[in-house]
Amino acid sequence: MPYLDEIKKRRTFAIISHPDAGKTTLTEKFLLFAGAIQIAGAVKSNKIKKTTISDFMEIERQRGISVASAVMSFEYRGMNVNLLDTPGHKDFAEDTYRTLTVVDSVILVVDSVKGVEEQTEKLMKVCRMRNTPVIIFVNKMDREGGNPFDLLDELEKKLDIKVRPLSWPISRGASFKGVYNLYDKTLHLFKTQQKLADIQPVSISDLKDPALDEYVGNEFASQLREDINLLDGVYGSFEKDKYLSGLTAPVFFGSAVNNFGVKELLDAFVEIAPPPGPMETDKRIVSPEEDAFSGFVFKIHANLDPRHRDRIAFFRVCSGKFERNKFYKHVRLDSDVRFPNPAAFMGQKKEVIDEAYPGDVIGLYDRENFKIGDTLTEGEKMTFKGIPNFSPEVFKELIHTSMKAKQLEKGIKMLTDEGVAQLFLMAQSGRKVVGTVGLLQFEVILYRLQHEYGAECRFEPVNFFKACWLSTTNQAKLDEFCKFKADRIGRDKDDNIVFFAESEWMLHHYIEQNPEIGFHFTSEYKNDLKE
Ligand code: G4P
Repeated sequence: MPYLDEIKKRRTFAIISHPDAGKTTLTEKFLLFAGAIQIAGAVKSNKIKKTTISDFMEIERQRGISVASAVMSFEYRGMNVNLLDTPGHKDFAEDTYRTLTVVDSVILVVDSVKGVEEQTEKLMKVCRMRNTPVIIFVNKMDREGGNPFDLLDELEKKLDIKVRPLSWPISRGASFKGVYNLYDKTLHLFKTQQKLADIQPVSISDLKDPALDEYVGNEFASQLREDINLLDGVYGSFEKDKYLSGLTAPVFFGSAVNNFGVKELLDAFVEIAPPPGPMETDKRIVSPEEDAFSGFVFKIHANLDPRHRDRIAFFRVCSGKFERNKFYKHVRLDSDVRFPNPAAFMGQKKEVIDEAYPGDVIGLYDRENFKIGDTLTEGEKMTFKGIPNFSPEVFKELIHTSMKAKQLEKGIKMLTDEGVAQLFLMAQSGRKVVGTVGLLQFEVILYRLQHEYGAECRFEPVNFFKACWLSTTNQAKLDEFCKFKADRIGRDKDDNIVFFAESEWMLHHYIEQNPEIGFHFTSEYKNDLKE
């Protein structure tokens, strides 16, 4: 097998969380520990935020939220780690969902005070679609809050996954003493604003060791002994294959802002997280060890330079070796393309690379040739699956207000190719309906149409609750339903039939009344999102 050593070294993952749980802080700490950035101390500095490579977009600077996600690669303990950043703001959740379909594993950050929040649950559902292995980091243990056992119960119930703590906190808040690492049986004592050089566990021979009482005091030492006894009884031993098949999530506790628990997490991550795995195409499963190169675009970033319509397509290599300047087949366009300046993203720097391996995410400069999901191969006609459109949550009708209809059409097409929004054409009225995950997206669309395409439009509200892709085993029934609900039937960009329900109640009613029709919440039914 050609590149096996390279493949084994790759760890491609994303950190996800409900906004404010600490995703950015943890990302920065990982980069610090790996030496990919050099800002001393426990600072979540705005400087990093402002110069971070994910900060491409003008609009992002205006709003101060991370609109688009990017990738940061670094080396750690001999591994090539590709960390895919995801926007925290819920209005850009579709971008995050798509990123989750190209990673091999995920670290989920949960705020120990707030527990499982709305966005945590939604993101976890997307992970469950592909059985993505998940490690949970319970952050902010320096704050006062509930009992860790209760939190574990909440994680299991709300996230629908079994958990297995691999570290255990000794108290929390003002009396937080540290964590006991169950994985390598070491004790880590907590200090606020811990310096990187200070991060050394103290060794105790076992939990009965009286040194434990000296380090944390009698009361906390006995509590820890009691907790660990209980833990082993309740959660059993850690089974790595259950983690790898997405059934059990190992849990770590810490405080990212204080550099606490982060190194153990990163160490365990590189040890247990999976290397790149096989990926599904419409024709067959592609294994990373295959000779022939293949991969696909999962994200497009525009606005690199407002004077040119340059975009950067984020591309995951799935098999073989990618080489600079070599011709590859663009399957959808049936044309040959090559890339003189493919980029990798080391820490915060973008650099031109000559080659890339399975698991790597590279940036390909694009002059409007790519859309999300586009596949490149060495000639084989196949298209990678698993990057569905997710059912939008907000819908508006698009109304032309300028004479520049052509620019508007082009702009809308580009924005939908980039996955900023989805465009539907209503079957009966021919009206154009734009669907997004959040309201903010409409502002982004208006802004970008005006600034990049010189075109104007406005949006009118429509009474749509959810878009469902329809399938059937009985075509006559589907035709009948489409006739009956003609004013709520449209087509997506790939000409699939979509039904727009007016309310949750009505949707359930139609589902019950039409057992022969499938109502799907993603455009790829097989991996459907369970609602
Ligand atoms: P996000 O990317 O998930 O949205 O969260 P982010 O890292 O930006 O963290 C949100 C807030 O939580 C930040 O505070 C950050 O400093 C704080 N935080 C992160 N980890 C910990 C922790 O372990 N303990 C405590 N107590 N706080 C933590 P902020 O006030 O919004 O920003 P800043 O002024 O501190 O930079």
